[in-house]
Amino acid sequence: MICVRACKRGAERGNMKGSFITFEGCEGVGKTTQVEKLRRYLMESGQDAIFLREPGGTVISEKIREMLLSKENDKMNGKCEALLYSAARAQLLGEIVAPALESGKIVICDRFTDSTFAYQGAARGLGVDFIDELNKLTCGDIVPDVTVFLDMRPEEAFKRKGGADKNDRLESQSIEFHRKVYDGYKEVAVRYPHRFVCIDASKDAEGVWQDVIALLRERTSVK
Ligand SMILES: Nc1ncnc2c1ncn2[C@@H]1O[C@H](COP(=O)(O)OP(=O)(O)O)[C@@H](O)[C@H]1O
Ligand SMILES: [Mg+2]
Repeated sequence: MICVRACKRGAERGNMKGSFITFEGCEGVGKTTQVEKLRRYLMESGQDAIFLREPGGTVISEKIREMLLSKENDKMNGKCEALLYSAARAQLLGEIVAPALESGKIVICDRFTDSTFAYQGAARGLGVDFIDELNKLTCGDIVPDVTVFLDMRPEEAFKRKGGADKNDRLESQSIEFHRKVYDGYKEVAVRYPHRFVCIDASKDAEGVWQDVIALLRERTSVK
């Protein structure tokens, strides 16, 4: 049951009238599956939306993404990683997200600041307060109206996915790492309860979707 109202709706971001929706969760919980369902739903109902993935979404940000995900960069330290994510995000916000929200569009992002909080802040041990500050400096008042957190522990999610993808530097981390990621997300839930909504990801994809769309219709400009 969703009972808390979003406190940073578009109207409170100055001229930005659109809705900003982010999806978060551990690997394999079904983020991409639900984002694709939302893409189809919005397209079929004629609602204008922009879909982004983090890190990426602009030419510069995609180049930074390659650096972050490449196995060749396994010597990258946590602070470098966090700053690269923020650099990619700063470009994405300025080039795509802010203008889209200003023109009243719905913007959907597969991972955003809470991933940095959970992965770099909690799991890589940079400190959640450091990452929280970095996120605020990078984003200013561009805060999601709603963050859909697909809530499932990494052990279960990996089973669903048939094991971690060994070609992706982040996904091939140990299960301990992913448990810390999950705990990091739970800390976000405590810090930002007004926007961060936990949805039970253990239902089948259609069941999860019914919860997702009900939430978005209640709390954003999605019709
Ligand atoms: N609710 C669900 N129940 C069962 N399997 C699912 C569900 N959602 C997604 N899947 C499957 O789990 C795998 C991971 O889903 P995906 O959407 O890629 O996760 P993510 O983007 O969070 O890593 C895919 O094979 C997908 O088909
Ligand atoms: Mg995905």
